[in-house]
Amino acid sequence: MTNNLFQPYSLNSTITLNNRILMAPLTRCMADDNLVPTVAMAEYYGRRVEAGLIISEATIIRPDGQGNPNTPGLFTQEQINAWKFVTKTVHNKGGKIFAQLWHTGRVAHPHFFKDNNNGSLDVLAPSSVGIEGTVPRMRDLNYQVPKAVTHQDIEQLIADYVQAAKNAIKAGFDGVEIHGANGYLIDQFLHHDSNRRTDEYGMTPENMSRFPLAVVDAVIDSIGKDRTALRISPGAYFFMSEDARDRHVFDYFLKELEHRNLAFLHLGIFDDSMKFDYLDGQASSYIRANYSQTLVGVGSYTPESASSAIAANKFDLIAIGRPFIANPDYVARVRENKKLVEYNADMLTSLL
Ligand code: FNR
Repeated sequence: MTNNLFQPYSLNSTITLNNRILMAPLTRCMADDNLVPTVAMAEYYGRRVEAGLIISEATIIRPDGQGNPNTPGLFTQEQINAWKFVTKTVHNKGGKIFAQLWHTGRVAHPHFFKDNNNGSLDVLAPSSVGIEGTVPRMRDLNYQVPKAVTHQDIEQLIADYVQAAKNAIKAGFDGVEIHGANGYLIDQFLHHDSNRRTDEYGMTPENMSRFPLAVVDAVIDSIGKDRTALRISPGAYFFMSEDARDRHVFDYFLKELEHRNLAFLHLGIFDDSMKFDYLDGQASSYIRANYSQTLVGVGSYTPESASSAIAANKFDLIAIGRPFIANPDYVARVRENKKLVEYNADMLTSLL
């Protein structure tokens, strides 16, 4: 019944996946205090190599991108070396792995980078518009009002995404997924709620897409389009308020992405049955209608519903998140039609 999930899929002439099931990026907060991946993390990924492609947990590109404790980085030699061990573990068992490149923008907190950011405690974002609440797992840390990035900051951020992408390739990753979703830095440029700029990075769809496209283009230039993917959230829902004007931004952005020939475009959402008025329905359907290349669906899918969605051509590949935390052998269980263990949040305390 789910046979189509087990068809191989060529992303391009460089990368062919053994099946259509991706392991979604899943932040686990288990890197060491220097944000270096551990042996336990390599073993955790190693248990999941049957996925057609593993996308790593979001990995920060530089110190001020950090918004959660013990999230791994890709900006020191020690981090690169440790990721080499992870990618080797995955490759030795026949798997493939992309690194998800992350800067949290206004969701960062100086608690994490006060000692290694050249003395700067600034939280960076498109505009000086803060979010309410406290850092996950650290209830005493309130989010700060961010500093609106200068043009010089923007140039440096693009250079740092490029460096992190190069570091990912040095570390043996098969490619990178730029994290442009879920309310973090890149997504903050794409929504009116967080982007109130009045310069060439704000106000119009073209301007609001400028920084995200500059990052995509610079990463493609440095590691190639076949190894570059992007995750986006056209439906604002995570640290964001909806704004009907966002539709026009994504209409333009998707049209521009269409001819970049990315390895894939990946929706970011927790439940793809959510409907957004200004997208005329589900975020996945909206992207499918406006983008003709490889699309990865995600968000509360079962093997059966994912298989049906792929059969109905709603997307090409499925990313699975929480069920992969609960079932390291998710792919084998689906193939053999075995019962899946139900996910619960208590499972986040250990790396099964
Ligand atoms: C996530 N998700 C996520 N997304 C992302 O782009 N980068 C990340 O690092 C994380 N981290 C993360 C941690 C945890 C514990 C959860 C539950 C989720 C979102 C994830 O990739 C996926 O989109 C959702 O979990 C929805 O898919 P499932 O879980 O319904 O299959």
